[in-house]
Amino acid sequence: MKAPILKIEDLRTYFYSKSKQAFIRSVDGVSLKITKGETLGVVGESGSGKSITALSIMGLVTAGPGIITGKIGFKSDRVQKNILQDLDDYVTLTKERGRIMGVQKDEEGWQEVSERRMSKVRGKEISMIFQNPRQSMNPFMTVGRQITEAIQLHTPIKGEAAAKERAIEWLDRVKIDSPRLRFDNHPYGLSGGMCQRAMIAMALSCEPSLLIADEPTTGLDATIQSKIADLLVELKAELGITTMLISHDISIISRLSDAVAVMYGGTVVETGPARDLLAKGEDRKHPYTSALLTSIPSAENIKGKGHLQAIEGDVLDTVNIPAGCRFYGRCNRVTDKIRERCERQEPDLREIGPGHKARCWLYFE
Ligand SMILES: Nc1ncnc2c1ncn2[C@@H]1O[C@H](COP(=O)(O)OP(=O)(O)O)[C@@H](O)[C@H]1O
Ligand code: SF4
Ligand SMILES: [Mg+2]
Repeated sequence: MKAPILKIEDLRTYFYSKSKQAFIRSVDGVSLKITKGETLGVVGESGSGKSITALSIMGLVTAGPGIITGKIGFKSDRVQKNILQDLDDYVTLTKERGRIMGVQKDEEGWQEVSERRMSKVRGKEISMIFQNPRQSMNPFMTVGRQITEAIQLHTPIKGEAAAKERAIEWLDRVKIDSPRLRFDNHPYGLSGGMCQRAMIAMALSCEPSLLIADEPTTGLDATIQSKIADLLVELKAELGITTMLISHDISIISRLSDAVAVMYGGTVVETGPARDLLAKGEDRKHPYTSALLTSIPSAENIKGKGHLQAIEGDVLDTVNIPAGCRFYGRCNRVTDKIRERCERQEPDLREIGPGHKARCWLYFE
């Protein structure tokens, strides 16, 4: 078995809400791993902690207290480190019955060490594309100039002319027509879809070991979404880049993923090979994953019901996390035999098949 390029263990990232005088437990015990060359699809409803997990990996969580504990192991051909190593020296946690109730953090000390550690990783080793490409690009600089600078900063190509040629090649590779002309466009001069292509070109031009794509198709109109998905499928086949693909849309996840992690309420509730998790039927699957699969807008799901099925109930309140299973209030598969446990005790993420883990009492009777 190949060693993972990224291995996150029990990551916790909290924010403090002054109005609620309590922590928002955005990421509350996330463990996942990505193997070299594979695409890990991270899926879950809005608010489940997907983006905060990604920003935690990149060291880009700005609001306090931010990352408070866990391990983010990163190992590429060039670099091996725990991104969070020694950072817990700057945090003091107060716990009650296993729950984190209080956090004291030396934010300045944390930031200084974190920035130093991330300077050789961010962009060069791990690069990220976001949902709003226009907001993530510099509006005052041409698209070509931004890609050229990224190449000069993060790859061995330092000469101006060579970096420019490489930038044009990347624009061409992501299927931007007339790349030489587009090189001189500012982000606002490109359509949303073209801007996302340019953002993908910029992220890949740094030749990172890991690409994190956070909702790369969300916000674009439907035809453009499917074209960007087609491009990602082609680039995956061509470059075989290791990718963490985040989306609330299980259709794009199923098109691209080798492995899948399903997030709910700040934790991973199921993870494993895509073919097992995304297979039809409720067999050996977390009830939340089954519910997500039935909410895919496929002709089959809409047929018969006449509408798209949404998962009933509200998304988890990440301030008042229940004592038992986080999905209990919405779960339709609780049996009398396990009801008490579901209500009172949170299940662990445990192996239910080869490389397949789930957090549900149904499988540990
Ligand atoms: N800076 C912040 N301050 C307070 N709460 C935040 C902050 N950023 C995110 N959150 C909360 O954390 C939770 C997870 O957010 P996010 O990771 O963005 O979800 P997802 O990407 O899965 O939709 C949400 O409830 C969100 O409101
Ligand atoms: S542990 Fe219980 S409530 Fe949670 S998903 Fe499984 S059956 Fe449903
Ligand atoms: Mg998000």
